[in-house]
Amino acid sequence: MRIDVFFGYQQLTPADVTGRVVAVVDVLRASTTIAAALANGARAVVPFLTSDDAVAQSKQLGREAVLLAGEQKMLPIPGFDLGNSPGEFTPERVQGKTILLTTTNGSGAVLAAQGARDIVVASYVNFSAVAAMLRAAVRSETEVVILCSGHERRFTLEDAGCAGRYVRAIQKDLNGVATNDGATACALIDRKYGENIAKLLQDSNHGQALIGAGFGDDVGFCATLDSFSVVPVYHDRQIVPLGTSRL
Ligand code: MLT
Repeated sequence: MRIDVFFGYQQLTPADVTGRVVAVVDVLRASTTIAAALANGARAVVPFLTSDDAVAQSKQLGREAVLLAGEQKMLPIPGFDLGNSPGEFTPERVQGKTILLTTTNGSGAVLAAQGARDIVVASYVNFSAVAAMLRAAVRSETEVVILCSGHERRFTLEDAGCAGRYVRAIQKDLNGVATNDGATACALIDRKYGENIAKLLQDSNHGQALIGAGFGDDVGFCATLDSFSVVPVYHDRQIVPLGTSRL
């Protein structure tokens, strides 16, 4: 039984993910936004590396059939329907919609995990649901990787703290779960902050940047534990709730 935590998807190799379950974490804000969108009734979230790719796909599918969403340098993209603030993804806005999402780090991290046995999108807001799935994987001897998206190739405190909470939940009462140093360090960060997730996010560079840019409410949203029970899984180029038939 094994859990590894890796930082930054750019360094990921096929051997890191093949045959494993990969949980992608981008707490601020992409993985939180994806959980909110799917929990509030979106049909699917399709990740794109660039806004041009997302726009091209919207033209192919029909502009009225989709919602374009995402951010560049934290800000909503001109001409898009939604930014990357999870609170925008209400049932009224997203019910039944396919969302084409492009963000600075989170979308790329999901795409980089392709080749894994399963890919799941993890955050604090859907913590218990995803932790149960990862724990079941570890118990059945499937290796788990938690991929911290980080920010522009760098380590981020918020993703590490969230990964640590997953590591600790998966390990609880299980003997013989091997971890890499990344997982051990993340568990220490989570232990240090304990239940004060808001403080952890406020201490992080990206949390501070978001607060400074007027997105303080988003940081609060992302710090809330278990708002949703959705398990978003990436399949056939789109992220859907686990248990949903393929779209
Ligand atoms: C990302 O993917 O880098 C983000 O979620 C950035 C953000 O929206 O704050």
